Amino acid sequence: MSETSPKLRAELDGIPTYKPGKPAAAGGPVAFKLSSNENPYPPLPGVMETAVAAAGEFNRYPDMACTGLMNELADRFGVPVSHLATGTGSVGVAQQLLQITSGPGDEVVYPWRSFEAYPIITRISGATSVPVALTSEDVHDLDAMADAVTDRTRLIFVCNPNNPTGTVVHREELERFLDRVPSDVLVVLDEAYREFIRDPEVPDGLEIYRSRPNVAVLRTFSKAYGLAGLRVGFAVAHEPVAAALRKTAVPFGVSQVAQDAAVASLRAEDELIGRVGALVAERTRVYEGLRKQGWTVPPTQANFVWLRLGERSAEFAAACEAAGVVVRPFPGEGVRVTIGESEANDIFLHAAEAFRKGM
Ligand SMILES: Cc1ncc(COP(=O)(O)O)c(C=O)c1O
Repeated sequence: MSETSPKLRAELDGIPTYKPGKPAAAGGPVAFKLSSNENPYPPLPGVMETAVAAAGEFNRYPDMACTGLMNELADRFGVPVSHLATGTGSVGVAQQLLQITSGPGDEVVYPWRSFEAYPIITRISGATSVPVALTSEDVHDLDAMADAVTDRTRLIFVCNPNNPTGTVVHREELERFLDRVPSDVLVVLDEAYREFIRDPEVPDGLEIYRSRPNVAVLRTFSKAYGLAGLRVGFAVAHEPVAAALRKTAVPFGVSQVAQDAAVASLRAEDELIGRVGALVAERTRVYEGLRKQGWTVPPTQANFVWLRLGERSAEFAAACEAAGVVVRPFPGEGVRVTIGESEANDIFLHAAEAFRKGM
């Protein structure tokens, strides 16, 4: 028998691996996980019951076309069903966006630092990453991103608000940027944290997509809706983009539990607004608290804050963990801290204060 291994695609060599947020340590005195931008609340009322009922039939395949969810989304957002595509989390849909647009020789432009899946899924597609540095204020440099577009560019990610900095781009600058992008280049507005935005200058991607056939909007049930573990997200885009996304979906990828829970979550709008409001209030408290302690924190419109700690990032994360909260360090760059339940946020604020005093 030969010792050679099967031939795999060269693009996979050296691919960065997706690092999930570290789980909270089991057995410690207190342990809160503030490392994955999850929602700290349990499912919205009625959602658990709906999911449990659907689970009773998981010997069956789910509805492959996600009919109920597609109809609900179409009603909720005032878009035709033909403009919708669902997937296994919005990261699953993002990967499909690469599949439908980009391959070897093509270029994908994205801000950096941003969502860590962008370089990974770009590499998997065989296309070339063109990361464009954030400004010194940790905001997308849209002018530089537009300058980075070449005749090989097929896809551009705009992450609004940006993960991990929480910063946003405003309507006017985004429209100006879109005016500069050729109409045959797909621009993806990744709005995973849309529901947490309170800044009225931040545009709703759905308004922008309506008049721009080269814009797709990515949304998820993982963050505000609290369904991270069920894996369901969606894109809104004109045809032929949405149709191509539906073609490339993993058959039966979104479970019936996820589909039904997503529909029930959309119907629990009042409770959702209440919970998101509470998290936004906690965000303001954490942000103000950090600023009072003397930290420089970029203004955040998401459910997390970013501390540019540079070389001290790992040390800061270790100090938080010792205090009882697990945060997300990006070694050499900064630390992202998810807004959690108020007890967790208190522990984090105390840990940040103690660390700062020792700096
Ligand atoms: C900007 C952004 N987009 C997409 C996602 C993917 O979320 P999901 O696949 O759970 O929908 C995340 C998750 O952290 C994110 O931060």
